[in-house]
Amino acid sequence: MPLASQNEKVKQMAQSPTSKQVGTATLTFNQKTATLPVLAGTLGSECVDVRKLQSELGMFTFDPSYGATASCESSITYIDGDDGVLLHRGYPIEQLAENSSFLEVAYLLLYGSLPTATALEAFTTGITRHTMLHEQIRRFWDGFRRDAHPMAMLCSVVGAMSAFYPDSIDIHDARQREVSAHRLIAKMPTITAWAHKYNAGQPFMYPRNDLSYAESFLYMFHAVPTETYKPNPVLTKAMDRILILHADHEQNASTSTVRLAGSTGTNPFACVAAGIASLWGPAHGGANEAVLKMLAEIGHKDNIPDFIKQVKDKDSNVKLMGFGHRVYKNYDPRAKIMQKTCYEVLDELGIKNSPTLDLAMELEKIALEDDYFVSRKLYPNVDFYSGIILSAMGFPTTMFTPIFALARTVGWISQWKEMIEDPTYRIGRPRQIYTGAAQRDYVPLDQRG
Ligand code: ACO
Repeated sequence: MPLASQNEKVKQMAQSPTSKQVGTATLTFNQKTATLPVLAGTLGSECVDVRKLQSELGMFTFDPSYGATASCESSITYIDGDDGVLLHRGYPIEQLAENSSFLEVAYLLLYGSLPTATALEAFTTGITRHTMLHEQIRRFWDGFRRDAHPMAMLCSVVGAMSAFYPDSIDIHDARQREVSAHRLIAKMPTITAWAHKYNAGQPFMYPRNDLSYAESFLYMFHAVPTETYKPNPVLTKAMDRILILHADHEQNASTSTVRLAGSTGTNPFACVAAGIASLWGPAHGGANEAVLKMLAEIGHKDNIPDFIKQVKDKDSNVKLMGFGHRVYKNYDPRAKIMQKTCYEVLDELGIKNSPTLDLAMELEKIALEDDYFVSRKLYPNVDFYSGIILSAMGFPTTMFTPIFALARTVGWISQWKEMIEDPTYRIGRPRQIYTGAAQRDYVPLDQRG
């Protein structure tokens, strides 16, 4: 969408908030009553608007892990966790994964509608022309240990982009916001592939503008200067689909991190670096790496019952990685598509028997019949199968989360852009229940017992 009409749309959105008041809720405490608006969006649960609670009742709400809190209004992604539904700008993930391409989904997330053929071509050309990194960024890698985790390299290099592209860090300039979004989407494959090349001790391969986004990434990752690289269409399609499936997922931990960092007015590269750091943890994007480690540790189907026993033991701290989700209380729709893609990839690669896939499927079957998982509504999430596919495609385990970060960059930057373009946004600043000592006087050192 051209910038001018985009600005127009942003203005219209500013005039008409997307959620509507559908009622009120009253809260009474200490003989005082607050009447709070109840808001509803297009889909999903109603929300009590508690913003006036402090001024009316002198109290805050307490929700430490935000399990019951909507932190923003957003028109980008919708999840129905009970029914296992995921929509981007209204389009079901199944339809996008089947019919769309990653750059088309990127356009959809960023601009709100599916592009026309002309708009997609212009967008693709724009992204393709930004894929190279400032040549001096190459030197960053010399400073890392050879065995540095690629997520550590991604955090650093993306954060450092703000020092290399100062011409696109004015968040109040719509054109600069757009350029930095394009730069991030375009350069992430190069950064991710180079992090691997550095680990592997191989020469960095430069992006190729004659290849598609997914193809160029696979080329930079797998190719070496001494051999001709032949892209495989089935693996390219699988890569593109993996990118689509990870592109956005509303207000998850890393996206909320990006929004919170962005709410201070910091630049988009710094925000996305913060998002990468947040994604790294095993409870979030790091789970795909953890799933393969877990499967390797289980080793054989015969060991599954013992493993499940450990998972159920609250003192063991062992989790069934790739299972469970804060929002999905049903099968994650992305996991279903991942499982299908997994078969396509293994078939293409001529892998008739995958002991890892067999083990994963047996583990899933046993877990889905076990009352512990059934009663807690724990189902496979996107990470349960993604590692198996990525591993079959020749990606080392440590690269799984960086590939997630590469795909999620468009979600992060779209959510950041949406927030900045919302005229009502303020710095994010949660409150707390203070449980420390009440005020007391300083005791000089010689008087302390
Ligand atoms: N294995 C075993 N038990 C689990 C698991 C699991 N994977 N997930 C949740 N539970 C249990 C909890 O211990 C809790 O049990 P309790 O009621 O007896 O105390 C119950 O199920 C509810 O779980 P919560 O901890 O409340 O779920 P929460 O929303 O806080 O956590 C999370 C969600 C972090 C995803 C969790 O399910 C988990 O750690 N899963 C494994 C890691 C993983 O796969 N993460 C990827 C998530 S998807 C993504 O980010 C791409």
